[in-house]
Amino acid sequence: MPQMASSFVFLLATFLTWSFSVNAQPYDYPLATAPTTWINSPSLPHTVSSSDGSTVRSLALRLNPGGYGPSFATGFYCFSPCKIFFFSVFIVGANSGGGIVYNPPAQVIWSANRAHSVSENATLQLTSHSGLTLRDNDGTLVWSTDVTNRSVAGFNVTETGNLVLFDINNSSIWQSFDHPTDTLVLGQKLAQGMRLTASINSTNWTESRLYLTLLANGLYALVYSNPPQTYFQHAISANNTGNKSAYIEFTNGSVVLISNSPENIFTMPEAVSVQFMRLEWDGHLRLYDFIQSSWKAVDDLLNVYPDNCAYPTVCGDYGICSYKQYCSCPPGNYFTPVDSRQGNLGCKLLTPISCTEKNNHNLITLNDTTYFNYIDSSSITGIDMESCKQLCLRNCTCKGAFFHYGANSSSGSCYLQSEVFSLENNQPELTHYNASAYLKVQLTPSPPPYNSSRKGKTWSGALLGITLGGAVVVLGIIVSFIMWLRRGREEQEEDGIDQLPGMPTRFTFKELQVATENFARKLGEGGFGTVFEGHSGDERIAVKRLENIRHGKKDFLAEVETIGSIHHINLVRLIGFCADKMNRLLVYEYMCNGSLDKWIYCSEERAPLNWSARYKIITDIAKGLCYLHEECRQKILHLDIKPANILLDERFNAKISDFGLSKLIDRDKSRVMVGMQGTPGYLAPEWQTSIITEKVDVYSFGVVVMEILCGRRNLDYSQKEENLHLIKLMEEKSKSNQLLDLIDKTLADVEFYEEEIMNVLKLAMWCLQWDCTRRPSMLSVVKVLERAMEVEPSLDYNFVYSIPMIMTNSIGQVDQSAPLLASVLSGPR
Ligand SMILES: *[C@@H]1O[C@H](CO)[C@@H](O)[C@H](O)[C@H]1NC(C)=O
Ligand SMILES: *[C@@H]1O[C@H](CO)[C@@H](O)[C@H](O)[C@H]1NC(C)=O
Ligand SMILES: *[C@@H]1O[C@H](CO)[C@@H](O)[C@H](O)[C@H]1NC(C)=O
Ligand SMILES: *[C@@H]1O[C@H](CO)[C@@H](O)[C@H](O)[C@H]1NC(C)=O
Ligand SMILES: *[C@@H]1O[C@H](CO)[C@@H](O)[C@H](O)[C@H]1NC(C)=O
Ligand SMILES: *[C@@H]1O[C@H](CO)[C@@H](O)[C@H](O)[C@H]1NC(C)=O
Ligand SMILES: *[C@@H]1O[C@H](CO)[C@@H](O)[C@H](O)[C@H]1NC(C)=O
Ligand SMILES: *[C@@H]1O[C@H](CO)[C@@H](O)[C@H](O)[C@H]1NC(C)=O
Ligand SMILES: *[C@@H]1O[C@H](CO)[C@@H](O)[C@H](O)[C@H]1NC(C)=O
Ligand SMILES: *[C@@H]1O[C@H](CO)[C@@H](O)[C@H](O)[C@H]1NC(C)=O
Ligand SMILES: *[C@@H]1O[C@H](CO)[C@@H](O)[C@H](O)[C@H]1NC(C)=O
Ligand SMILES: *[C@@H]1O[C@H](CO)[C@@H](O)[C@H](O)[C@H]1NC(C)=O
Repeated sequence: MPQMASSFVFLLATFLTWSFSVNAQPYDYPLATAPTTWINSPSLPHTVSSSDGSTVRSLALRLNPGGYGPSFATGFYCFSPCKIFFFSVFIVGANSGGGIVYNPPAQVIWSANRAHSVSENATLQLTSHSGLTLRDNDGTLVWSTDVTNRSVAGFNVTETGNLVLFDINNSSIWQSFDHPTDTLVLGQKLAQGMRLTASINSTNWTESRLYLTLLANGLYALVYSNPPQTYFQHAISANNTGNKSAYIEFTNGSVVLISNSPENIFTMPEAVSVQFMRLEWDGHLRLYDFIQSSWKAVDDLLNVYPDNCAYPTVCGDYGICSYKQYCSCPPGNYFTPVDSRQGNLGCKLLTPISCTEKNNHNLITLNDTTYFNYIDSSSITGIDMESCKQLCLRNCTCKGAFFHYGANSSSGSCYLQSEVFSLENNQPELTHYNASAYLKVQLTPSPPPYNSSRKGKTWSGALLGITLGGAVVVLGIIVSFIMWLRRGREEQEEDGIDQLPGMPTRFTFKELQVATENFARKLGEGGFGTVFEGHSGDERIAVKRLENIRHGKKDFLAEVETIGSIHHINLVRLIGFCADKMNRLLVYEYMCNGSLDKWIYCSEERAPLNWSARYKIITDIAKGLCYLHEECRQKILHLDIKPANILLDERFNAKISDFGLSKLIDRDKSRVMVGMQGTPGYLAPEWQTSIITEKVDVYSFGVVVMEILCGRRNLDYSQKEENLHLIKLMEEKSKSNQLLDLIDKTLADVEFYEEEIMNVLKLAMWCLQWDCTRRPSMLSVVKVLERAMEVEPSLDYNFVYSIPMIMTNSIGQVDQSAPLLASVLSGPR
């Protein structure tokens, strides 16, 4: 035993000595001499993990001339979770001893062969005859420098971050600045023909199709295609066009074109300390500066007019971008999302376009839709819309045509594209032109129904007509058969309820037993009923079987009639019901992505929703509630708004479910007395006085918005006591101006949406005003979300007057086991 203990102490001591020596040794070792071989392993001299989970294994470091602070280094780099490595040049923080520090995380400014990462035990060799050579651990050659017939003496990491191979006379043979990746640092130049090429994303560094390059007549940002499509251009003056030796240089405060008459390309914030600019995966060229010991994006240089939608990959191929964020697929049945959960990955054609079946080509029309590539000089001007469409239809290479025209003119500019990237909603008040898009689609032998803009003019149109006609006849027969069946059934019913048009379908208990395979697959359970999955024909349905119903058949049917008459895209649709003997069931549309609570509270099995998805969900809920409050024949209060009652369909459209606690009140009676109901955590303060208005829904909505932004429950009993109550935390953070601390840590790119996130936070705070008369109406909420209105500037920042009355013994149950479609029809009357 003592032996073991002493060997442990020895090991510990060795470890401590080693790690201290690593940190204490002064580092300023910018040079290496040939020949040297390095093996990528944790025992490389200067291995440090950073605060973002990345690790650098530095081979050479050029300490900041100030003696500490951001410094350039080269070596192996891996991002979290550190499975793959790149040989890179990076900016690290160094302490005055020259040790690399944990924070800020390293920023990579150059890498060898981004498409091919290496693993543990990869080798990097510096030799005089071939310079640097990188081989993976299986011997594969990953990258090497080209130093034909020159003899390399060593390498040097310079003060500007350039990795230079030099010869015996100290003259440069090869330098990383001549092979830029996606980043430029202060002092770096981009000569004609050189490119910055973006990576696919932060975890896949393969080159994407987006690049920035200097051409003879200007600086261009393009997406690679045949031919490439421009999304940004900065023309240079006539004096400089055509000068092959002109180049641009990244200087302090600007990007300048260096020629015999230099000119500014971008003017930007002056460097506080170390700056770099990176062409990022989304096509933005962002300028970063090291300010107050962290990296901050201080400028977005390729500002594309008129808004953030005009980037080729913002919504993926064929995705339509609106309001900066929302991505959607073109309407109709020709396109499907690549990943229904991530709208920004774009859409694909269900039937690919085939040049051997040109007769089946058609164009679908998207009004008010434009394309980032309006700056393309290859447009055809002065033609009319029909000719533009014909040009595209007749040329198989053309996948889409974009037509721009003035208000009072039928002729305009026509842009033909061989590949369609992201589309955008046109806002004529910003762009000052009208625009429509025509996308080529391939009709299948029995094409999906779509209101084509070319009505039966061609053979394929006629074919479409015939097929559609046939389909209508068949549909007619089916419908009459169903009607006949249903009439037969209704004659057996004795309660005299007729099938009203537009009303939910009446099912027999037997039918629902069959539809749900005798209630086999349970979707959720609540205090008043259980929800089962089922099928009615091809449609998936959710069947709720109510328990302990106290209502008579007449009340039940009246309630069904009310619910069945409420139709809105953001409300879960009631398809049918059953009132056989003692059985009471409701049939709803099936929502395949389940309830919102499963998506917003941090969970390992699901990827977190991105900002645009969250924004869309918030807007959907607001619109659904607005409809209930303002647009129904009778004002309807929901009274139990919470994430468990928000359901998501396959495209992540949010719909409000569960009108179980809702009370119908007349429009002229603005207040109603009811007993306390709802779910703790979402209850407005005025529940304690029992005088409630539709503003209680606004309050609950505010709570839900906070939960979506923060990724946690308002009352979260897994948190430490002082953090248990989110609204209380919000009050504290709003007073100390640290609201952003609350934002869900799994939400990516918060800094780029900061303004928008703050606006939604303020909106939530407006909804959470203690005094219900100071809360906005849902109509105002929708307007704020659609950017047609501002949040009330003078808010009361006291949100919690007392710890809310909570029925502690019921919290766990009520909140956690909230059913997929909780109770209907069972609230007190
Ligand atoms: C790297 O090499 C060392 C020594 O040869 C070996 O022990 C280790 O297993 C290797 N690691 C990997 C991941 O191949
Ligand atoms: C390199 O050297 C070889 C032999 O000395 C010669 O044939 C070749 O042309 C040289 N290549 C270049 C690029 O100078
Ligand atoms: C290395 O680069 C620095 C500039 O950062 C320069 O002053 C120095 O002379 C270079 N050393 C060699 C050996 O090239
Ligand atoms: C280094 O400089 C000397 C003198 O200028 C010259 O003779 C020699 O060829 C140079 N060596 C290389 C490798 O360029
Ligand atoms: C190369 O630079 C180093 C220092 O950077 C200096 O000591 C050496 O004398 C230089 N060699 C030549 C040939 O200039
Ligand atoms: C990056 O792209 C790869 C596919 O190329 C994907 O699997 C991965 O999830 C993406 N990562 C992020 C952070 O988006
Ligand atoms: C990275 O993206 C490229 C291009 O989309 C893809 O081919 C490759 O498989 C991706 N790599 C990883 C590791 O996801
Ligand atoms: C272009 O060059 C001419 C002659 O060199 C000069 O007079 C003129 O001012 C220049 N124009 C611009 C815009 O720099
Ligand atoms: C072209 O640009 C270079 C780069 O500075 C400059 O030296 C040269 O004078 C320019 N030539 C012409 C014809 O403008
Ligand atoms: C950039 O210029 C500003 C103003 O002249 C100066 O304060 C700053 O130190 C400069 N930054 C660098 C990195 O040289
Ligand atoms: C597009 O606009 C035209 C003319 O305003 C109209 O006739 C057509 O129905 C619209 N098409 C769609 C799909 O909205
Ligand atoms: C066909 O369309 C492509 C791009 O859409 C264009 O580049 C090409 O010139 C067109 N061909 C003809 C013959 O018009």
